[in-house]
Order: sequence, then structure tokens, then C-alpha cells
Amino acid sequence: MRILSGIQPSGKLHLGNYLGMMQPAIELQEKGEAFIFIADYHALTTVSDPAMLREGSRDVALDFLACGLDPERTAFYRQSDVPEVTELTWLLSVVTPMGLLERCHSYKDKIVKGIAPSHALFAYPVLMTADILAVQSDLVPVGRDQKQHLEVARDVAIKFNNQYGDVFKIPEPSIPDHVAVVPGVDGQKMSKSYGNTIEIFGDPKETKKRIMRIVTDSKTVEEPKDPDESIVFALYRLLATPEQTEEMAARFRAPGLGYGDVKKALLGLFIDHFAVFRERREELARNLDYVEAILQKGAERARSEARKTLTAAREAMGLD
Ligand code: ADP
Ligand code: TRP
Repeated sequence: MRILSGIQPSGKLHLGNYLGMMQPAIELQEKGEAFIFIADYHALTTVSDPAMLREGSRDVALDFLACGLDPERTAFYRQSDVPEVTELTWLLSVVTPMGLLERCHSYKDKIVKGIAPSHALFAYPVLMTADILAVQSDLVPVGRDQKQHLEVARDVAIKFNNQYGDVFKIPEPSIPDHVAVVPGVDGQKMSKSYGNTIEIFGDPKETKKRIMRIVTDSKTVEEPKDPDESIVFALYRLLATPEQTEEMAARFRAPGLGYGDVKKALLGLFIDHFAVFRERREELARNLDYVEAILQKGAERARSEARKTLTAAREAMGLD
């Protein structure tokens, strides 16, 4: 089985990215042949500062390797080191109906947020389709908000195969249902663009501040509380063991629990979860040549697959 996922280097990675996509993708690398990449072509649609793009790509590389991506098992690469995906994007564009792209929420959401409506932003899902189809991926681990893009990828692959013959595997999304959407400190979806994130490798003081700022209701310590209505609890359970979750839920339901204590417990879990990763990240940051060598090796592996697929697509279309 082939597994592929990517993430844009467009900001510091946060708990939502980690729990919604990174952790599931890292776990899946045990189950098959994985391809994980830094979606820098995609990030160009929103990041116009070259230095920021470079820094973002380096950060994503360090974050993934620190959190357990195994470069011996998984091809880890920068999207722009596999230029075959851009040619494939054009071939796929030919069979992509305008209506399919016009329906995409993500494009509309980005315009509402004030991002300039470029052709690249509109065609974004076709590039994503090419990423997936280029390596003939079976499974694509992503967070819930990418589901519609996966539907585009499937539709385009089916349409191409119907028109030109079977060239592409039809990919399946893998969306963690226990995570659904990770809430941010204000209770909305955690997202870089809402400024409500808890960065996974953020400054420890800032992390503490963010956690202490998580929105709570005005119940007093003495009042029993419903854990299912609490944002702090929702985050706590995502990092806790089932036993810790049960115990905390019972404490919510009984009198005597203050939200400050739950936040401290959440901070404790957060620190424990990322402590080893943080050390590993610091070490990797001192060995950037090693990190670059991993990305180059990953790109070679991805390119060799992408070239095969591209040749098959070109031939099917009459470009041989
Ligand atoms: P952001 O919303 O911060 O810009 P991205 O859109 O770059 O994040 O998302 C990168 C990956 O992380 C995607 O697979 C996305 O589904 C996942 N993801 C992002 N935020 C969350 C969240 N709050 N909960 C679950 N998954 C998320
Ligand atoms: N669009 C994804 C996001 O914003 C990133 C991405 C680009 C991706 N290409 C992909 C994810 C291919 C999975 C598969 O998070």
C-alpha cells in the first residue's frame, strides 16, 4: 500500500496540524510505503516572501523528522524538487471541470480572508491531485478540512481513466475520526489564520500563556461541569491516555475543580508529549546538511515514481 500526504510550509505547525495530520501520517508509515512532502508549490499561493518560504520549509522538515518521520522508510521531500507534478497538473487540468473547482470551499474561504484570487489559488486542488496521483497513492491521511480536495482528486482520476484508459489509482482519504477538528484556544477550529494556535515547538513561555488563555465558561470551582462542553477538556483528551481522560471527566462532574488546574494538567501533558521531540529537533537543527540529504534522497525516490506515471499519462493522451 502507498501512503502520501503533504503540508504547506506557510506558518509554524500547531497541535491541529499535529493531531489531524502529522501523527496519523507518521503512524501510517508502518503500514506501507509512505511519501510525505513539504508542499512549497502550494504555499506560493499565500507566501510571497522568499525568506519566509525557505524558513517555513526548513521548519516543516525539522518538525516532521523530530516527531518521528523515519527517513529510512518514508520518502520525505520538498514538492518543488519533484517538478514532474507541475507537468502532470497541466495534463490533469484538461479533464478537470470548472464546476468542480468552483465548488471548493477552501478557495472561497481564502478569498474571504483577503487572499488575492490568483489562478494558482483556484487551481490549487489540481496540483494537489497531481501530488497524489503522481506516486499512485492508495491512501491519503489528512485532516477533515481536506476531504473535499480528496474528492476532487478522486473525480479527476476517474474522469481521466474513463477518457484515456487506466493510468491512475483512485486514492482514498484517511481522516482520523477521533480527532475531527482540533479546537483552538478560542474554541474555533485551530488554524494559523485565526491566531488561536498552540504551536508544537513554540516558545515554552508563549505556550503556557496560550494554554492559560483557553476560553472557559464562568462556572465556579464548586459547580459541577460538563466535560463535553469544555474546550480545555477537548484538548486534554487528545493528548491523554484513556485512563487519564476518564479520571479528568470524573473530576469535571464533581464539585471542586478549577479550570486553572485543568489547564496546568494540559500543559503538563503537552510538555511530556513533545519533550523528546524537542530535543531531537534541536539536534537536527544543528545538522541541516543531514536534513537536506534526506530531502534530496526522498525527492529522487518520488521523482522516479512521478516520471513513470507522467510517461504513462503522456502516452495515454497522445504525447508520446
Ligand atoms: P491551517 O488551518 O493552520 O492553515 P493547514 O490548512 O495548513 O492548517 O492544514 C495542514 C493539515 O493539518 C491538513 O491536513 C489539515 O486538515 C490539518 N489540520 C489543520 N488544522 C487542523 C485542526 N484544527 N484539526 C484537525 N486537523 C487540522
Ligand atoms: N492542501 C493540503 C493542506 O493545505 C496540503 C497538500 C498539498 C496535500 N498536496 C497534498 C495533502 C497532497 C495531502 C495530499 O493541508
